[in-house]
Amino acid sequence: MKEVTIRDKVFQESISPERISGRIRELSREISEVWPGTKPLLLSVLNGAFIFTADLIRSLDFDPEVAFVKVSSYGGGMSSTGEVKSLMGLNTDVKGRKVLIVEDIVDTGHTLDWLRRDLREKGAEEVRMVTLLFKPEAFHYDHSPEFIGFRIPNDFVVGYGLDYDQLGRSLPGIYKLKQG
Ligand code: IMP
Repeated sequence: MKEVTIRDKVFQESISPERISGRIRELSREISEVWPGTKPLLLSVLNGAFIFTADLIRSLDFDPEVAFVKVSSYGGGMSSTGEVKSLMGLNTDVKGRKVLIVEDIVDTGHTLDWLRRDLREKGAEEVRMVTLLFKPEAFHYDHSPEFIGFRIPNDFVVGYGLDYDQLGRSLPGIYKLKQG
C-alpha cells in the first residue's frame, strides 16, 4: 500500500492514477451523451480542480472554452467553514450559455450551491457539474452533481490537485488520511 507523509499526517493511496484516467474517459463520454452537439463552457474551480480540468478537456470529444473561478470554503484546515468566499471572480459572460462546473471534490456542497446560484443570477441558461470525487455522507443538499467520478467515504483526501495545507497536490493518485 503506497503511503505518504504530509506535515504531521500519513495518507495512503485509495484511488490509483490508472483508475482516475479510466474514469475520466467514461465521464467524457457521459458528458457528450447528455449534451450532444453542444459545447458547454467549462468552469473550473481553482485551486483543486486544475489537474482534473487539464485531463478532462483533453479527453472530451469537443474543444471547450474554459474559464476559471477561485473560491474558498476550507481556509487551510480539514473541514469546510460553511462560508464560501470568492477569491477570483468570473470574467466570462455566461448569459444564455450552458455551463459545466468542474470540481475536484464535493463535500458539504456549499461551494456547489453557491456557484449554481451565482451562475443563475448571472443568467446562465443551464448549469451542470462534473466532480471527480463526491462525499455523499457529508452532502447537505438535494441536488447532487450530475457527473460523478468516484463516490468516497467521509475521509479527508489529498492528491491529484487536492491539498492538505497547500501540499500533496502533485501526487498522481488520491490518498486518504490514515486513521490511528
Ligand atoms: P464543499 O463546499 O464542502 O463541498 O467543499 C468543497 C471544497 O472543499 C473543495 O473544492 C475542496 O477545495 C475542499 N475539500 C473538501 N473535501 C476535501 C478533502 O477531503 N481534501 C481536500 N480538500 C477538500
